[in-house]
Amino acid sequence: MEQLWEQMKMSLQKCERCGLCRTRTQAVWGVGNPRTRVLLVGEAPGKNEDEQGEPFVGRSGQLLDKMLAVVDLDRKRNIYITNIVKCRPPENRDPAPEEVAACLGYLREQTRILEPRIIVCLGRISATRIIDPGFKVTREHGQWVEKGGIHMMGTFHPAALLRNPGNKPAALADFLGLREKIRQLCPEVYEL
Ligand code: URA
Repeated sequence: MEQLWEQMKMSLQKCERCGLCRTRTQAVWGVGNPRTRVLLVGEAPGKNEDEQGEPFVGRSGQLLDKMLAVVDLDRKRNIYITNIVKCRPPENRDPAPEEVAACLGYLREQTRILEPRIIVCLGRISATRIIDPGFKVTREHGQWVEKGGIHMMGTFHPAALLRNPGNKPAALADFLGLREKIRQLCPEVYEL
């Protein structure tokens, strides 16, 4: 498993499946413990992520790490974090539907290898691709659905929380729900 994972991670750097390959510094595969059963999926790398090769390393990443810490989760220890799109869209625009479509195969492979019990979608772009095309974050955040044995929940994107801090308590409640779900479904994640 680890060999395949490493091979795919390396081959991503040569990816030319969409036009973002022409403007990226590097593709961003993900960060975390591949032995976890909890996968968090964001939107796409921004400027900092493109430079450093790791998801969520800017201000929104710091906020994400703080919320994760409240529920004893840590990107280095017991979760895995990636994005729907692995390369930075220029000017931080939303990824185009064809870019999402071109990239989705990588997330599918990652999911096949990790076999997560739980997926948390960070923000609309992720939740509409993974949970439901009509997903509305303000209305449906924190609600759990199950698909093919994987339990899924969408919550606010941390960058949206920086813009609208009034939603932070609701986001925190979603993370507390995540801790409960982990305790029910895969408590071993807290032993990692
Ligand atoms: N926003 C995202 O959705 N992903 C990142 O990796 C960084 C910011």
